[in-house]
Amino acid sequence: METQQPRVMKEDSKTKEEAGAAVDEELAKAIMARCFHPSIMGPEAWEGYVFSDLEIRIKESTDLYGAVLWPSAMVLCHFLETNRDKHNLTDKNVIELGAGTGLVSIVSSLLGAKVTSTDLPDVLGNLQYNVMRNTRDRCKYIPLVTELIWGPEVEQRFPRATHCFDYILAADVVYSHPYLEELMDTFDYLCQENTQILWAMRFRLDPENSFVDRFRQRFHVDELYDLPSLSIKLYRAWRKDKRTRDQGQAAA
Ligand SMILES: C[S@@+](CC[C@H](N)C(=O)[O-])C[C@H]1O[C@@H](n2cnc3c(N)ncnc32)[C@H](O)[C@@H]1O
Repeated sequence: METQQPRVMKEDSKTKEEAGAAVDEELAKAIMARCFHPSIMGPEAWEGYVFSDLEIRIKESTDLYGAVLWPSAMVLCHFLETNRDKHNLTDKNVIELGAGTGLVSIVSSLLGAKVTSTDLPDVLGNLQYNVMRNTRDRCKYIPLVTELIWGPEVEQRFPRATHCFDYILAADVVYSHPYLEELMDTFDYLCQENTQILWAMRFRLDPENSFVDRFRQRFHVDELYDLPSLSIKLYRAWRKDKRTRDQGQAAA
């Protein structure tokens, strides 16, 4: 026999759902409003963004994944700019994985961080161009743009003895590519005891989404934003100590 939910409970959960949808709609609108297009087309195509009261111009190129700006990057930048009280990037060591066209690295630099912006070799030219053009004479620290292919090379490029990051930033790095394990290991290697990961995840297909479940086995995870209208969630994560992780694996 079907049990009937009490009416008050049903109405309660409906009100919560409606409130969640309203937050999503308002936040997604505010995030998307950061983007503008040039009113006159010049010789070079670019898209404009406003963060930290500054205009940022991003040059895209359509032939590579990393040469297009993805909405997750805007979500992460919006969070960083509007949560400076909780996550003050001034003087912090920050690394971005899969930086693409560079918006997250640029905004983090404008917010005062010492930024290392990384991606595949093919993407670096455009990334370097965007980062330099938008940070020159505007930032406390000159950002470093450098190659990082996820996987074992991270240990040579960023030895723990000399590199310690306060934040690892990543936007839309999980999708149907064959390097998801390497990406997981890269997060794991770079994330030291006091490091925080801020990661904006665009949900597409189930196999990639299972990455989040595996990620939760290695890290403590807080959900900061849930934006169903954009299919994006923003997570904050930090290391589980080894003992907790071993216990979790034994129980799984
Ligand atoms: C969907 S794009 C996102 C770009 C940017 N973060 C954004 O949100 O606009 C994914 C990025 O991951 C980078 N990437 C993919 N596979 C990689 C790998 N094995 N090692 C390092 N970077 C990789 C791509 O070059 C690309 O810049």
